Amino acid sequence: MGTIASYHHKGGVGKTTTAVALAAHAAAGGHRTLLWDLDPQGAATRLVVADRGLDGGIEALIRGGRALIDHAIATAHDGLELIPADPSLRTLDRHVSADDGGEDRLRAAVEVGRERYDVVVLDCPPSVSATAAAVLRAADLVVVPLTAGPLAWSAYADLYAEVEGMTERRPEILAFLTMVDRRKSLHRDLVDDEEEPSEGFSRVRVPTDSRVERMALDEHPLRAVLTGRAGHAYAELWQEAAGLLAR
Ligand SMILES: Nc1ncnc2c1ncn2[C@@H]1O[C@H](COP(=O)(O)OP(=O)(O)OP(=O)(O)O)[C@@H](O)[C@H]1O
Ligand SMILES: [Mg+2]
Repeated sequence: MGTIASYHHKGGVGKTTTAVALAAHAAAGGHRTLLWDLDPQGAATRLVVADRGLDGGIEALIRGGRALIDHAIATAHDGLELIPADPSLRTLDRHVSADDGGEDRLRAAVEVGRERYDVVVLDCPPSVSATAAAVLRAADLVVVPLTAGPLAWSAYADLYAEVEGMTERRPEILAFLTMVDRRKSLHRDLVDDEEEPSEGFSRVRVPTDSRVERMALDEHPLRAVLTGRAGHAYAELWQEAAGLLAR
């Protein structure tokens, strides 16, 4: 299948929830799946209940003798492995933008991931950075959560232009609205808007779901993105993503 990056330059829009949800649906569907947590905050790592962190930190990851991809560890979920986050990922950008091949090593690792797993999902930190640019260049599909609000379409236009402007290797793009609350007229207007963009835009709307908000506290955190209202929306999004990867 391929590599999916959950990406948006803004914080708190649902990137990690989306990365974890897509990885969970891929694994539940029988695909060998790797979730790679590139955010030093480690939210995805905590949600999939990994049994340990990143051995040796960023130095080992970028400069160590072991291949980057060999840092993958088992999780509590069948078919789902994880490259966990580590606080030292804060310096990842410096490593990636250095002239000694940091970006090449990151991309090579993604390539190896593509061979070993059916699906690789990258959870990106919120930034416009060398790491984000490298991840976009390495991905087959960029999934972009957009929070339902007055700036959703313009945020989408900016991101679409950013991806379209990539010359070397351009991923597919799949944006969708999330944290939709139909009790809010602003959200209803947006969801019912007939002028919404169509190119690279999914019809899936992930509703605001209190189970997702609480998932970090749940004994089985992934349940909130596998079942229930948000879970059903994410199942559809995964089907759409899988269709794009199969192209
Ligand atoms: N569908 C949803 N319903 C309710 N809450 C949600 C939903 N999706 C995400 N959230 C909540 O919104 C917050 C931000 O989500 P998330 O951590 O996925 O965003 P992020 O873009 O990865 O953030 P960051 O930029 O900090 O990495 C979290 O508290 C999460 O639980
Ligand atoms: Mg996140």
